[in-house]
Order: sequence, then structure tokens, then C-alpha cells
Amino acid sequence: MTSIYSRITGTGSALPERILTNADLEKLVETSDEWIQTRTGIRQRHVAAAGETTGDLATLAAQRALEAAGVKASDIDLIVLGTTTPDIIFPSTACLVQHRLGANGCAAFDVNAACSGFMYALGIADKFIRSGQSKKVLVIGAETLTRMVDWTERETCVLFGDGAGAVVLEASAEPGIYATCLHADGGHKDLLYNPVGVSAGFTDEPNHGVRIRMSGREVFKVAVKTLDSLVDETLQAAGMQESDIDWLIPHQANLRIIEATAKRLKMSMDRVVVTVDKHANTSSGSVPLALDFAVRSGKVQRGQTLLLEAFGGGFTWASALLRY
Ligand code: UT7
Repeated sequence: MTSIYSRITGTGSALPERILTNADLEKLVETSDEWIQTRTGIRQRHVAAAGETTGDLATLAAQRALEAAGVKASDIDLIVLGTTTPDIIFPSTACLVQHRLGANGCAAFDVNAACSGFMYALGIADKFIRSGQSKKVLVIGAETLTRMVDWTERETCVLFGDGAGAVVLEASAEPGIYATCLHADGGHKDLLYNPVGVSAGFTDEPNHGVRIRMSGREVFKVAVKTLDSLVDETLQAAGMQESDIDWLIPHQANLRIIEATAKRLKMSMDRVVVTVDKHANTSSGSVPLALDFAVRSGKVQRGQTLLLEAFGGGFTWASALLRY
């Protein structure tokens, strides 16, 4: 029996029009362009307009991915969407996007794995295709993270942005995705979280208490260490070596974390896709945005081997090694 693999046949992304630069943030909080660039590599971020939602960005990114793949929305048999900032509590953003695309009838659900949301969605979609359950899947990572940013807190407000990325994943006789690795450790919950919600309740604080809380330095340390072992595990799962990878497409949270992972892989930075300077941390949107940027700018070519990885709240961490 021949194996079924999943292959990315199209990519797309979407960003809100409004750009907020570091200089703009200097007017809001006690910070500087120099501090932000040196500590994070971020120069600017996109911010959703009033009324512009995660679903709006996800729909646009998905349409672009479908167009690139030459696939009709009605042929999609599964939509998996990673997000921590859904439009509404239910229906899922995946269902809202499905209807807007005209893909009604297929399975559609959201995955909340914080910044690893897209990587989790990709891992799940890969399994649906490998099992023969699905043939054409839309995998989306989309966020309007700035909706839960406290614009008076300099430690966090400089870090995040809004955006979405999507891929069409199709069944193929050739790889495709060689390996995906998904992990979580809920024991680190208090280092990166947003404490309010329907079941725990909202508070009388501004924005009902909805606000990202992060112990940046601790998250940084765990992220670097965890990503080190994640790349080892992924290479081993795919039966590959560092030198087999053409491009590292990492989660875009902090340039220093990205550089540490590249060093671990003995990769020079010109083989690493970096968009954190333009997009900041868009959580689930980050990896597919970077992938689409790399494809459309001609960096990533068909046949090349890509290592995708992410780390975020939960903690969650996840990766995929694939031939594009
Ligand atoms: O995507 C999910 C995962 N998230 C991450 O991966 C984020 C991981 N963490 C980080 O990226 C970094 O820890 C940060 C960028 C958040 C912070 O960088 P850091 O080098 O760890 O700085 P720090 O938190 O140790 O703060 C250093 C100093 C502090 O002042 P003192 O105590 O040394 O006087 C902060 O108060 O920088 C100060 N500071 C700022 N100064 C200017 C913190 N935020 C700012 C700011 N502007 N925006």
C-alpha cells in the first residue's frame, strides 16, 4: 500500500492596513525605538481597525491561499484554524470563515494553543490527510492580539501585532510533511496567560480584565531551551540532519530567540525567515505569515526543506519538517 502524505499547495496571508511604529509607541509608554529593536528586533506592527476581526483577516488569508493553490473553496473538506482571539465565543471562527468562503458542509473547528496554534492546526490537518479522512484542508493561523493588549503596560504592549496566514494542504503521493511534533506543559501557565473568560468570569478592570500577562525573562529562557530540544526531536522524527534544512521558519516573537535556535541548528541567519521586524508577535498568525512572505518574495522555492516551529502560552510548542 502506498503512503499518503500531505503537501502545502498554496499559501496566503493578510495584515491590517494600520501600522504602529516604535516611534508611535514612544508616545504611549516610557519606551524607546532603541530598546524595542535591541531587545526584540521589532520595528513595527499592524493593528486591526475598529470592527476588523480575526475572521476578516483569516478569510482574506484563506482566499489568497486557495487562489495560490488553484483550489475552489467548495472542494475543501476540512478547516482547522488556530487562534486565541476568536471573533465571538461560538460559533468558532473556523465556522464563520467557512461560510464566508462558501465551503459550507465541511468539518471546521478552532484550535487554541496560543502562539503554537497554527503549528497545532497543521499537525492535526496532516493526520486527517494521512488517515485518508481528508483530501484538501485549509489550515489557518489568525489573531487580533492587540485587542487584549494593555496599551499602558510597556513590558507587553510593544511586543504584539495582528495578522493571519493560511495554507492549503492536499493529499499527495510524495512528501510533503515528513514529521510534526506537538507538546504542552500546563505547569507553566502563570508565566504567560490571560486570566479572564466565560467560566472563570470577567472583572471590573479596564477591558473586563482581558489582558496579556507575561513574565518575559522567564518565558524567554524556557522558550530557548525548549526550542533547542524541539528541533532535535523533529530532525530525529523525520530522519534528517541540520544540513538537510534549507529554511528555518520560526515563530516570530523575539529575534534573539530566533537567533538562538538558528545557532543550535548551525544555520546562518540568511537561511532563516525573519518577519518579526515588520509584524511583531502575531501568535498563531506568525509562522504562516512568515511562510507566505518567504514564498511570495521568492526566498522559499518548491522542493526545498523547511523547518517550522512555534512556542507560546500553555506552555505549548510544536514543529513541522516538510518539503515545500
Ligand atoms: O510568543 C510567546 C512567547 N513569548 C515570548 O517568547 C517572549 C519572551 N520574552 C522576551 O521576548 C523578552 O523577555 C522581552 C522582550 C519581553 C523582554 O526582554 P528582556 O531582555 O528579557 O528584558 P527584561 O524583561 O529583563 O527587562 C529589562 C529592563 C527592565 O528594567 P530594569 O529592571 O533592568 O531596570 C524593564 O523594566 O527593561 C525594562 N523594560 C523596558 N524598557 C523600555 C521592559 N519593557 C520595556 C520597554 N521599554 N518596552
